[in-house]
Amino acid sequence: MAARLGVPVEDVERVHRLAGDLPSAPLPAKAHAPVLLARLAVRPDDAAEIMAGWPDPGSASWTPELRWLLDRSIALVRADLGGHGWLAPGPELPRDRGLAWRHLYVYAYLALVEVVLGYHREHGIAEAVSYATLADLGRNLAVDRRMRGEGWPVMQSWLTLHARGGVYELGRLQYQRGDTTLGLHVPESGPLTPRAVEASLDEARAFFPRHFPDERYTTFSCGSWLLDPQLLDYLPEDSNIVRFQQRFELEPYEQPEGIDADVEVLRFVFRTLTTPLDQLPRRTALQRAAVDHLKAGRHWQWRRGHFPIQPVRH
Ligand SMILES: CC(C)(COP(=O)(O)OP(=O)(O)OC[C@H]1O[C@@H](n2cnc3c(N)ncnc32)[C@H](O)[C@@H]1OP(=O)(O)O)[C@@H](O)C(=O)NCCC(=O)NCCS
Repeated sequence: MAARLGVPVEDVERVHRLAGDLPSAPLPAKAHAPVLLARLAVRPDDAAEIMAGWPDPGSASWTPELRWLLDRSIALVRADLGGHGWLAPGPELPRDRGLAWRHLYVYAYLALVEVVLGYHREHGIAEAVSYATLADLGRNLAVDRRMRGEGWPVMQSWLTLHARGGVYELGRLQYQRGDTTLGLHVPESGPLTPRAVEASLDEARAFFPRHFPDERYTTFSCGSWLLDPQLLDYLPEDSNIVRFQQRFELEPYEQPEGIDADVEVLRFVFRTLTTPLDQLPRRTALQRAAVDHLKAGRHWQWRRGHFPIQPVRH
């Protein structure tokens, strides 16, 4: 199976171990898929591919191995409904082998939409929040297209948070449930103005006690290249990124396991991981900073910070 899927044996064993014979979930009816994809903000070019590669019962491009992986990946993610940890839905597939390979985890996501909507309903969450949250699928597919597929390995895991009810988009920011912290994520959706951030934080302050009354959140936290204080050397004091940084109490620097901040800056500032520094655009202050810093042999930092959920009143 692993050989036919072109992935390591351990990855297949992991899916087998985690999903076992737990229940899967059916895909939405193909006839309803175009409307659903539009609600999930999937752009026409991506939607056309997803429709063309649809796992119809008779489709020859869906080999038994791919069908097994799709079914077990849905079961694996579904088994952790309500979870909020990082979760890979399965192995990284060779996506250049065809549409089934390219979008297997998108079909899994589509199957889980009904499941997670049910979870949202149980928590009294409005449909508008559900769809604003789940529409990160379309945004990620569009970014991955710009990145020529380089973004997907991270996205396929990131999107399982949405499919499990682990993350919510409230205005400008996304919030990942944790034990006592709400993790902030910043989607690419326009400028990060202080006003938009404040409005979103206020939304979150009301949303979580209302919809997750059994959970007790005390702090907002964030782990990001956006919190690297070295950015202060390059960006004006009134830039949105600097003002975002100023909200946080920074934790002491620790090289995070498995994250290379230089790569993350390339990912989020240039949407490429492999373009040589000399060929990267220098249109914005941040782009010039990112390249000049690396060319000088220096490195970016992935930093963590936090601040209390309830504003401190003096
Ligand atoms: C976070 C984000 C919204 C901030 O953008 P912003 O509100 O414009 O930020 P600032 O006001 O601080 O921008 C300062 C300068 O950097 C530029 N800049 C900011 N983010 C940029 C980006 N991702 N790519 C290229 N240039 C960027 C701005 O254009 C501006 O330069 P200019 O004055 O020459 O035009 C933006 O970087 C973004 O969309 N990033 C992608 C998502 C992300 O990084 N999330 C965090 C993941 S851990």
